[in-house]
Amino acid sequence: MTTEKKGFYVTTPIYYVNDIPHIGHAYTTVAADILARHHRMQGDEVFFLTGTDEHGQKVEKAARERGKSPQEHADGMVGNFRALWPKLDIGEHAFIRTTDEHHKRIVQELLQQLWEKGEIEKRTYSGMYCTPCERFWTAKDLMEGRCPDCGRPVEPIEESNYFFLMSRYQQRLIDHIEQHTYILPETRRNEVLGFLRSQPLGDLCISRPKQRLAWGIPLPFDAEYTTYVWCDALVNYYSATRYLAPEDGGGKKWWPADCHLIGKDILTTHAVYWSTMLMALGLPLPRTLFAHGWWTVNGQKMSKSVGNVVDPNAMADRYGVDAFRYFLFREVPFGLDGDFSEDALVRRINTDLANDLGNLLSRFLTMAEKYFDGVIKRPSSYPMARSENEFAAECIKALSGAWREEYWSRLHFNLILESIWDMIGTGNNYIAREEPWKLARSDPDRLVTVMYNLWESLRCTALALYPFMPGTAERIGTQLGLGSLAGAMEQSRTAQGPEGGSSLFRWDGWTPDSPVKVVRGEQLFPRIESAVKKEGKLQKTEKKKERPAMTEQGVKELIGIEDFARVELKVGRVVSAERVEKSEKLIRLRVDTGEERQIVAGIGKAYDPESLVGRLIVVAANLKPAKLMGVESQGMLLAATDDEGTLSLLSLEKEVKPGARIK
Ligand code: ME8
Repeated sequence: MTTEKKGFYVTTPIYYVNDIPHIGHAYTTVAADILARHHRMQGDEVFFLTGTDEHGQKVEKAARERGKSPQEHADGMVGNFRALWPKLDIGEHAFIRTTDEHHKRIVQELLQQLWEKGEIEKRTYSGMYCTPCERFWTAKDLMEGRCPDCGRPVEPIEESNYFFLMSRYQQRLIDHIEQHTYILPETRRNEVLGFLRSQPLGDLCISRPKQRLAWGIPLPFDAEYTTYVWCDALVNYYSATRYLAPEDGGGKKWWPADCHLIGKDILTTHAVYWSTMLMALGLPLPRTLFAHGWWTVNGQKMSKSVGNVVDPNAMADRYGVDAFRYFLFREVPFGLDGDFSEDALVRRINTDLANDLGNLLSRFLTMAEKYFDGVIKRPSSYPMARSENEFAAECIKALSGAWREEYWSRLHFNLILESIWDMIGTGNNYIAREEPWKLARSDPDRLVTVMYNLWESLRCTALALYPFMPGTAERIGTQLGLGSLAGAMEQSRTAQGPEGGSSLFRWDGWTPDSPVKVVRGEQLFPRIESAVKKEGKLQKTEKKKERPAMTEQGVKELIGIEDFARVELKVGRVVSAERVEKSEKLIRLRVDTGEERQIVAGIGKAYDPESLVGRLIVVAANLKPAKLMGVESQGMLLAATDDEGTLSLLSLEKEVKPGARIK
């Protein structure tokens, strides 16, 4: 069977070389990478374009201040972007610079076409000019005499310039936006329509006299002028298809782009200028223009002068690239504004990544090693009826959310991630419900099914996570005994992908010929203790007070609240548990109490170690370390024992975070 490969072309804005890349640039580029990876998984051929915007007055000025030519300045700055993308695990992509000779030639070619078609006119223009924004304004546009965009002073200017007759296309543009799912999200579409319907669209000044702006592309029909920087920049999306796109397999055409990803700040230039330029050139419009929201930092606009610019390099170094990528797309629905804080990032790491995902994998691996020496088999009874395998049915439901075409075409990344986390939560509940440690004794056949189900849910989780967290997905894949996920997907590229038909992405779709052997690797996401939460409060109340006097004989000594407060009780989550060699009673536990510690507890007769993993318990956290059968215990867990010797661990009624104080 031959399947026709589809092409998918996604772009980011081309970033100004004057800025050092920050979280906003990282955001759009990672979003494009998520889409690119998703489409590659589907078997599509992908052209993913990013790059830099290098002409214009700002670059010219910055270069002059540094005593460099604009080209030298741009060459120096562009490396910051090129180096960031691999660090953020941005996959295969093309990189365009507006100073590329090819690009400059194509800009001139298109301008010449517009000129010859009578879409450009020379006029004498007088208006107010904002140098930092490189934009003309009419007197009525101004806000209290200043630039309505940046609030800075404007200068009066009168000169001859060339104008693109954009006003001609107003109605056609309105019709196009109304008739197509062109601008997303819906709110942005309405914004653009509102603007277009409420006022006549003006024409667009597309030139600058050379003496005012030398650092630009000369107009092909009048060398005394250079091209307005936005015309030059917008054309990158088209010019790249002519010299940077992948080899054209089956006569595939890369224009129109499938998705332009931009921030809401540059919606008008794209939705109005670029769309009408394309109409005038007789070129089709991109399929989707998605304008995402704006990140602030701890509630404030990011700015160099405030000193709160978030450096994506530092975030990837400190928290790991996948945790950073995950946070950006889970925390805020793509399209809305969001606020960045490291505390919120740490919270996501500790709850979603360490507790939910990391714990599930770790519990599964421990049991797989213990019961089957790491070998997972597909049970002979598979596939089972829905009624017999409620768990598979729940996972399949979650999985259909993760691959839902509508979520992907509308870029509902947070809903996709939520679906994946539904599957992870289902896995954790399944372990609690089925108690595999009991099945090991009572029903080994069922244990085979339960473990295969868990393996399968983790396999599907890894694949669904791949576009968002490629490194983590690979690490899970390796631990599940799958080898390289990317390799497996490459092999299945002949198939039609998640929605179409590649069985790889479906529940029970792997069906290896032989059993697989899982291999425990490093913990996926160790918990991070946020600096603000570090303890140290106890010392304040530690001052010794007089002990209360003994009361009557036989009545135990009473203690004051200060004495009680000296015992630091904390909530802990059991990360792993195993029997201490040669002891029936002792279990060695790794417990997360905000930081990880080892506790040895005499509960081995009442509890199987596996049943403890993942549970919340109560820990006396400030006991001096002690050794039990040669193994150090850093604290004690609390349990009750009655007269009949029944032992019961203290647990928590509701889910609270490990490390929480008990008072
Ligand atoms: O505008 N939150 O380049 P630029 C979210 N060269 N995204 C942000 C952001 C923030 N706080 N800050 C920036 C330009 N971005 C032009 C584009 S395209 C033909 C020419 C992202 O370096 C967002 O994608 O100012 C925004 O649109 C882009 O960076 C602006 O990058």
